[in-house]
Amino acid sequence: MSRTIFERFYEGKSGSFIPRNDCPVEGLDMLLTRKTPTSLPVVGEQEVIRHYVELASKNYHIDKGMYPLGSCTMKYNPVVNEEIAGLSGFTGLHPLQDETDVQGALQLIYDLESSLCEITGMDHFSLQPVAGAHGELTGMMIARDYFRDRKEDRKTVLVPDSAHGTNPASVVICGFTPKTIPSGDDGLVDIEALEREIDDKTAVFMLTLPNTLGLFEKEIKKIIGIVHKAGALVYMDGANMNALLGIVKPGDIEIDIMHLNLHKTFSTPHGGGGPGSGPVGVRSHLGDFLPVPRVLKEGERYTFFSDMEKSVGKVHAWYGNFNVLVKAYAYIIALGATGIREVAENAIINANYLMKKISRHYDLKYPGPCMHEFVASGRNLKQYGVRTTDVAKRLLDYGIHAPTVYFPLIVEEALMIEPVETEKKETLDHFADVMEKIAGEARNNPGILHEAPVTTPVRRLDEAAAARNPELCWPLENSE
Ligand SMILES: Cc1ncc(COP(=O)(O)O)c(C=O)c1O
Repeated sequence: MSRTIFERFYEGKSGSFIPRNDCPVEGLDMLLTRKTPTSLPVVGEQEVIRHYVELASKNYHIDKGMYPLGSCTMKYNPVVNEEIAGLSGFTGLHPLQDETDVQGALQLIYDLESSLCEITGMDHFSLQPVAGAHGELTGMMIARDYFRDRKEDRKTVLVPDSAHGTNPASVVICGFTPKTIPSGDDGLVDIEALEREIDDKTAVFMLTLPNTLGLFEKEIKKIIGIVHKAGALVYMDGANMNALLGIVKPGDIEIDIMHLNLHKTFSTPHGGGGPGSGPVGVRSHLGDFLPVPRVLKEGERYTFFSDMEKSVGKVHAWYGNFNVLVKAYAYIIALGATGIREVAENAIINANYLMKKISRHYDLKYPGPCMHEFVASGRNLKQYGVRTTDVAKRLLDYGIHAPTVYFPLIVEEALMIEPVETEKKETLDHFADVMEKIAGEARNNPGILHEAPVTTPVRRLDEAAAARNPELCWPLENSE
């Protein structure tokens, strides 16, 4: 473990300079002022710099190595987009500025909505939701208000068991009841089960496409036909859109509502609770229900428009996470139609290449072909007393981030791998070689895997205790 910055204590040193206060101090409630100095670390500037550089170099990140984290799309995102989003013309905006002052920002919102419509085939988009799950929730609110407006009492949302975990949660928060549709042996929606469960109380069929097994529904048109015939809407969780860009337009296959994860597909890193964006798109019959304000173009002017009687209202303060929108806009403009399609093609090629290599040593419940990700299984290693978690920990010793494990729940000992479109063949080969080595270790020396990781700053933790009783505080004994 590294020393904390408090343990770098160096009497008499200071890394900061606080100017003398030359203003009169008035109105302070002396009862509330502290009696002892704060327990700030006593360190010089150099110690501070070294401390943070040491921490940063221990951290694993996408600039350091591959991140095959299934479902998360941890790809390399061009740095130029960060620079563009950091331009003072964007970062210096205030959300209360008059719309005449922020025409450029409004144009960006308007043009990005149009680009997303073009990419997905939907008729309208709102960029307000700030996460994938937030987009799902907004989509469910739109469906709820749509049926309310039609005076139809529909309360159920059908969700396949291969959906992303946030889907049923969004359904419940919005007041619907989720009902699970099982997958068939091929990992796709069991159409007979769908036909059995759907009725005139079904509001929405909520489909993750491609699903969390990385599979595209071969019978998508039939599925959508069944749902529409029952008078229900089709919601597409489009967070995995990096597999479909330039190939499938959800609007063309009559998806009614969808969301995108800009922070997976369009150049903002995913994860860590950082700012995200989950725009929601709808086809024209649902346009009136989108959140307000919308940005309109009148001649050469862009204006905010909130006068939408049927709108679900505001779903976030101001206009969403604008900084993420700027990066998505820059990414789309730079790649153009051809580049956007290449993203999906590379994602699919990489995933299928890796799946073939890894399936020599790990089980594969659903052989594919897959889209952008696949789910292998460590089930075949159980005979040596080795679990998927041991494989994941051992990968850390080889300097590779672990894949998503034990999800989706329908695959025993799941190892969910998304190589992403930006990794080159040599990196994929290296990952496959390491996975092969680990399978060999499981057969010949499983003890190594039980001990892993042994090369990381922190060895294997009691994960439940680390999550429930984290030790995050330095004991600040002298503070009051
Ligand atoms: C398929 C899918 N749907 C929804 C989400 C939820 O997105 P968020 O984490 O932004 O809420 C994710 C997250 O990665 C996802 O992979």
